[in-house]
Amino acid sequence: MGCTKPATHWWSSMFNYTAFDESKAEFVEIAPASELPNGERLFVEVGDKPIVIFNIAGQLFAIGDVCSHDEGPLGDGDVEGHNVVCPRHGAEFDIRTGKAVAMPAVVDIPAYPVQVRDGNIFVGIPKE
Ligand code: FES
Repeated sequence: MGCTKPATHWWSSMFNYTAFDESKAEFVEIAPASELPNGERLFVEVGDKPIVIFNIAGQLFAIGDVCSHDEGPLGDGDVEGHNVVCPRHGAEFDIRTGKAVAMPAVVDIPAYPVQVRDGNIFVGIPKE
């Protein structure tokens, strides 16, 4: 869960906040972890940010719920391995990093760190 990557790496994938030093994020309580069983997803809004949280094989991942291709909602898309497929035109993003991995999207989307504390899900939002 902790950030183990050197701070110098964050700029190379600027939306991948999971690579941030966690002291740069504010962790916001979302819901009890029991509300997000394996294979499910949870749609939330934190501030003005739409976010979808996935439970893939017991691991939680949070990404922005907006496709970088044409701003379509992304979170309802099919999940293939660790990729989510945009329902509109088929772009794919790595849920772990937000990286755009298939056309027509070429711009990464935000990926946020997720923690479970005392049975509750928290998502780390970068401090302004
Ligand atoms: S809006 Fe997602 S691929 Fe076009």
